[in-house]
Amino acid sequence: MTTGGIHPYMFEPESDPELTPSTNTTDTAVCDSVSLFIYEVRVLDEPHSQTSDRDERRNRGNRLLETFERNLGEIVGYHWSGTLKTSLENRYSFEDCHATADWLLSQTAVRPLVGIVCGSGLGGLADMLKDQVAFNYRDIPNFPQSTVHGHAGRLVFGTLKGRPCVCMQGRFHLYEGYPIQKITMPMRIFKLLGVETVILTNAAGGLNQDYKVGDIMIIKDHLNMPGFAGNNPLAGPNDERFGVRFPCMSNAYDRELQQLVMDVGSELGYSDFLREGVYCVLGGPSFETIAECRMLHKLGADAVGMSTVHEVIVARHCGMRVFALSLITNKAVMDYDSEEKANHEEVLQTGKQRAVQLERLVSTIVTRLEHNNNYA
Ligand code: HPA
Repeated sequence: MTTGGIHPYMFEPESDPELTPSTNTTDTAVCDSVSLFIYEVRVLDEPHSQTSDRDERRNRGNRLLETFERNLGEIVGYHWSGTLKTSLENRYSFEDCHATADWLLSQTAVRPLVGIVCGSGLGGLADMLKDQVAFNYRDIPNFPQSTVHGHAGRLVFGTLKGRPCVCMQGRFHLYEGYPIQKITMPMRIFKLLGVETVILTNAAGGLNQDYKVGDIMIIKDHLNMPGFAGNNPLAGPNDERFGVRFPCMSNAYDRELQQLVMDVGSELGYSDFLREGVYCVLGGPSFETIAECRMLHKLGADAVGMSTVHEVIVARHCGMRVFALSLITNKAVMDYDSEEKANHEEVLQTGKQRAVQLERLVSTIVTRLEHNNNYA
């Protein structure tokens, strides 16, 4: 009987020396033993094999199978520990994050309570801030840098109708090749700057057949596909100063704030294009195949994109309130007869067209936010 297990999320290389990659294990060793094994089994099955031959071959087959299993085990362990080693190397410690936050606080008098993340083509939200103090990501100690067209790469402090805010103009994505810890590190910076509420926007493809291009979807829940494969931003040792080991995600998207968005949206006359639904994140950068779109829709997703969910997980882990909006920039292709093709230009173009209304929605919501919560 065992009293505990080793899980990817709690990987500690110092205490698990056996899990560090073994340098003399090669994929070739596995391939060799697999092909030998297959060869032996094939010969074994041939009808003209003599009985004595067959016993001999069966024994050899068993020995080969053992070698194969051993090598395969090592290779799996190698890749597994390699992935986790990467996650450790890319982790920012509490002290690293504090140093970045302290540096920022020393450069500006703004003490933000709201943190905003602008999605593809939606960076105009940051331009609405008054009395701006802006930093290029490359000038901020420890900060990752954005590489995508449509994402400016600036952290902008300022006020939105008198409310102190900080805004990420440009975010980080898995498809840029960043480790998931880098993508989400700004959420911890938000927390250490004093942010209580995080608002995230993104561009997404509509899977729900009732959705139209230009609709704004209030995210009520998510499907974290990279997370199913073990790529979760919280994997690795947990620092309790940020949050608990196993954070709850059934209340990831604040229900009161969802209602507030609905109310403000209807006051502004946006009800016709305001929706509520489930967002599914994929790694990208390739857009989905038709079969993938059909599958995601069957699984309960209303929209699909390549961002937001990782940030939400980290923001919730450290106790900030969250709401998120998807601008439906294209309809996901669900039909083999369709001539439509998802492309990044369409995403940016739709962003431009609906951006003004989205900005108005967000800025009005910011003025209505109550700040006194100690939400977790
Ligand atoms: N798929 C994934 N991400 C996206 C899409 C899409 O169709 N549109 C905008 N971002």
